[in-house]
Amino acid sequence: MTAGAQRADKRPTQCKAVKPTFLGWSVTLTLSLCSASALGGGAAPVTAAPVSAAPSTAAPTASVPRPTLVGYAELKADTFAQGPASGAWNGGLRGEARFQGQPVQGFSGVQRDPQGQGFIFLSDNGFGAKNNSADYLLRLYRVSLTPGTPAARTGSVKVGSFIGLRDPDKKVPWQIVNEASGERLLTGADFDVEGFAFAPDGTLWIGDEFGPFLLHFSADGRLLEAPIATPNLPGLPTLRGQAPIVIGHRGSSGTRPEHTLESYRTAIEAGADFIEPDLVVTKDGVLVARHEPVIAAVDETGKVLEATTDVATRPEFRDRLTTKTLDGVKVHGYFVEDFTLAELRTLRAVERLPQLRGKAYDGQFTVPTLEEIIALVRDVEAKTGRKVGIYPETKHPTYMAEVAKVNTSQLLIDTLKRLNFTDPARVFIQSFEVGNLKDLNTRIMPAAGVKLPLVQLISSPDEAPYDWAAAGDGRKYDALTNDASLREIATYANGVGAYKRWIIDGEGHTTDFVTRAHTAGLLVHSWTFRNEPTYLLPTYKNDPEAEMRQALRAGVDGLFTDFPATGAKVVGQYTAPEVRSPQHPAFAQGLSSAAANLPASGGFEGFAIAPGGKLAYGLLEKTVAGDPAGQLRLMRYDLGTRHWALAGRYVLEQGGEAIGDLTPVNDSQMLVIERDNGQGETAKFKRLYLIDLAAKNADGTLRKTLVADLMALADPRGLAPSTRGGVFSFPYFTIENVLVLGPDTLLVANDNNYPATGGRGADVKDQTEFLWIKLPTALKLAPAYH
Ligand code: G3P
Ligand code: CA
Repeated sequence: MTAGAQRADKRPTQCKAVKPTFLGWSVTLTLSLCSASALGGGAAPVTAAPVSAAPSTAAPTASVPRPTLVGYAELKADTFAQGPASGAWNGGLRGEARFQGQPVQGFSGVQRDPQGQGFIFLSDNGFGAKNNSADYLLRLYRVSLTPGTPAARTGSVKVGSFIGLRDPDKKVPWQIVNEASGERLLTGADFDVEGFAFAPDGTLWIGDEFGPFLLHFSADGRLLEAPIATPNLPGLPTLRGQAPIVIGHRGSSGTRPEHTLESYRTAIEAGADFIEPDLVVTKDGVLVARHEPVIAAVDETGKVLEATTDVATRPEFRDRLTTKTLDGVKVHGYFVEDFTLAELRTLRAVERLPQLRGKAYDGQFTVPTLEEIIALVRDVEAKTGRKVGIYPETKHPTYMAEVAKVNTSQLLIDTLKRLNFTDPARVFIQSFEVGNLKDLNTRIMPAAGVKLPLVQLISSPDEAPYDWAAAGDGRKYDALTNDASLREIATYANGVGAYKRWIIDGEGHTTDFVTRAHTAGLLVHSWTFRNEPTYLLPTYKNDPEAEMRQALRAGVDGLFTDFPATGAKVVGQYTAPEVRSPQHPAFAQGLSSAAANLPASGGFEGFAIAPGGKLAYGLLEKTVAGDPAGQLRLMRYDLGTRHWALAGRYVLEQGGEAIGDLTPVNDSQMLVIERDNGQGETAKFKRLYLIDLAAKNADGTLRKTLVADLMALADPRGLAPSTRGGVFSFPYFTIENVLVLGPDTLLVANDNNYPATGGRGADVKDQTEFLWIKLPTALKLAPAYH
């Protein structure tokens, strides 16, 4: 905006009666406007008022004057401007235009008219949604407000000419509603325009919600450049700032029987970066994927206790039923090392957790070899170019050496080398034991001429690496978690695969484990993240994404998950280069809207250009996925350098659910409308806060000062028809317009979401109400605004 657009309001000295004005096209108005001075305006010293300029956490102080309504006007809901009929998609009346013309309201932004004495209001995106607003033309209307007389308390609101937003130069790189027309008028199905300002060069900048985008127009509404996307913020605190990886734990074992090619394929399709085969050895020395050498555990009566194959139903293998001691525990069942690969191939996989995950896929898939798994990822690479990695675990190395007489670590390296799959970017080797990892590091891999990253698994503190236990070392896994041990691990491994309770304790608190492991130079890959509520702490309220987000915010470098689709979604929301709402055009062009990282209608509801004219600010209405709940990003865009930066984090109050507008006071301070989703009698929270970019809370969020409670403005003279007992309440669902008119005077207006009802009664169409509010304490306006 220009300095002139923000100069102090020339406050009226009297009210005068003006008939409702009908403009060149159909405009119907009901007006009521009284001046502050004519009514002896000023802040009213009434009681029980929310305080002005008090910290947001302060309780109301009875003796402090509250902001006072010193002017009021209304514009009837059914106010139309010339233009094509509209509303054909509104209210389910697709194909039948409801309105003969274009609704002028609801307004989502206001500025001074740089070329006149009045104001310019931005009309919102139409009828509330992208899919019902294709015939709503995006416009800014010139509106002049003049004072009325004290007696009649009526004035005039003149809706004048409009600036039609359009894209005749085809700057929008995707298909718009009016794609083929010459003027390419922009509609409410193309953008959701929520705030605007004029730059010093006279051009017009608008904040959008669908992208969210910044839109740059000439002063007369011609789009000057392609929509400017909103960058995501860099950086989860991973070891080197790299993107975290999603590891398909036993494939996509939450949705397919674990360790089957189908499970791995599903994991890859879901977006896993790595798939995890736990490896055991057949009688004839082939590495196959099973979580345990036990492929069915049965009790003494023959009842299956847990199984990953149907071997217990095969009479031909009854002679393999035996009892063995596995890592010190007697187990009765069938063991993979007692089957040749050919025999194993006759078995079929079954779901390990049938009561939780069902049996729909039982009997369909075989036990895969490591070679088949590598063939699968190579096939994916050939078809898609995606280089999915593998994350093999050598299962029970001590047991395998004793019982099967096989060094699984050696066999793994031999197999990888034979298959020429030794790219260190595509393989992590993990183990719950320690000795075999050290052997891999110092002997096996150097001898083979390969160097693959190793990961020391760290289980719960009541368990121990079995090679330690077998050697009589009584230490448990917690002995691997102190700083000295982490440094020791770093001498032979590249990372730790930590049980998730090392990262987030049983109370849901983030520990310092990741920080300490990172200090030792170790990657942290944590396990196991599952969607089912039974695996989630109560703090997550059955939301598995919340658990993943907490781990990612803690800095983990990878997640083992049975549900890689969930993991990929959550990680993708953090690592996406842009902030995107589900209405972003990319999603209409075939990308899954699951990748959206901003809720619908969560874009730049607030948009402003600071008085200096160089810096634009966009305040998101809703929380970006992964950010702390209730925190909204305030983004800064340098109009000169075209660089984005995070200017601050705005925290919604208890009771506040979204922001409604943003307007500058000076180069450091801005006013923000914050609201709940209530209207009429359910509205409780409609407020104005002052923020200061230089004033931060201890946690780095923006400090807020309550400036006005719009639910309780003083109106001692009853300027507004709805005022009761000297108190004016503004219970509209959305309030999206605020402008500084002078050091102690603001203009505020609602967005009537035409043709919505509910603000002033369930059956009453919302009108636009304009409020002139006098503050008890003057703001520190930028010199240009005086
Ligand atoms: O290997 C780490 C992760 O897979 C958890 O262990 O018991 O599922 O193999 P597990
Ligand atoms: Ca494993």
